[in-house]
Amino acid sequence: MGHPLLREVAAPLASDQIGTESVRQLVDDMVDTLHDYGGIGLAAPQVGVSVRLAIVEIPGGATRYGELAPMDLTVFINPVIDVLNPATSGYWEGCLSVPGLRGFVERPQHVRIRYLSALGEPQELELRGFAATVFQHEFDHLDGKLFIDRIEDFGLLAFEREYERYHL
Ligand code: NI
Repeated sequence: MGHPLLREVAAPLASDQIGTESVRQLVDDMVDTLHDYGGIGLAAPQVGVSVRLAIVEIPGGATRYGELAPMDLTVFINPVIDVLNPATSGYWEGCLSVPGLRGFVERPQHVRIRYLSALGEPQELELRGFAATVFQHEFDHLDGKLFIDRIEDFGLLAFEREYERYHL
């Protein structure tokens, strides 16, 4: 947080860039970072590359993301979100780019995402609940937005230690 690149609107990937060695290398770097961080999603601007690409990987089994269906590592290129129902629910969010903090954010809970796969194929996915929140958080990074921008009640912005003590 504070790096200007995190606040830029990232550029779409051109079709002739998709599947190239440089994009593959970017995804590899992002996967390494995601695994080091222990998160479930990461956007390219978070590793210093201002392009519209994000990855999500949701492990199976009992995790702190219990509400989420598992998802193998997936690459989302030039994603677009359609809100199918504007009704919101809130979750505590955290972010690799905002270390040590958690904040309660309300977002629509029924969305459709349209995107290109790592091979450039058009894909669609309908998401509900916390999964809808996860993807909105990740794709916000492509528009220069962080979850702290979406907090409405700053009494619900906390350090991780206080989050675990008072809000978990
Ligand atoms: Ni984030």
